[in-house]
Amino acid sequence: MPMPIFVLNGPNLNLLGVREPSIYGAETLEDVKRRTQARAEALGHNVDFRQSNVEGELVTWIQEARDKASGIVLNAGAYTHTSIAILDALNAAEKPVIELHLSNVFRRESFRHHSYVAPAAQGVICGFGPKGYELAIEAMADLLTRKSAR
Ligand code: DQA
Repeated sequence: MPMPIFVLNGPNLNLLGVREPSIYGAETLEDVKRRTQARAEALGHNVDFRQSNVEGELVTWIQEARDKASGIVLNAGAYTHTSIAILDALNAAEKPVIELHLSNVFRRESFRHHSYVAPAAQGVICGFGPKGYELAIEAMADLLTRKSAR
């Protein structure tokens, strides 16, 4: 059994569907999880989908990914813009990383324009709402295929 793709979600993403729907849409995190899993299964991958409001828990999960994940898709929420600890953990994990956001952070407040995740990521997907999770899985599947061909 190949290792799962870790899809990790940071603070406040448990409130999807309720939280600022004009920005984040009407789907719940459970809906997003279902879509993500379906796309992964269609591409022959499985996902381990998690959410935490706690920065240290996200760091622990990224550390776990080093041995237990094929790659990391990360929507770090607001920690994207603040967390050097998450950047350090991503660099230590030595796995392909995709940074993900539901909203187009570059159309929003300037404090959302800086990312501590981006320097550790192969690429960034933002602005496509829940569809971005499927796009991230597709991009990760490609990265993993290329990696195994090397
Ligand atoms: C977010 C964007 C972040 O700026 C924000 O703090 C979030 C969600 C997104 O998915 O659009 O919590 O990561």
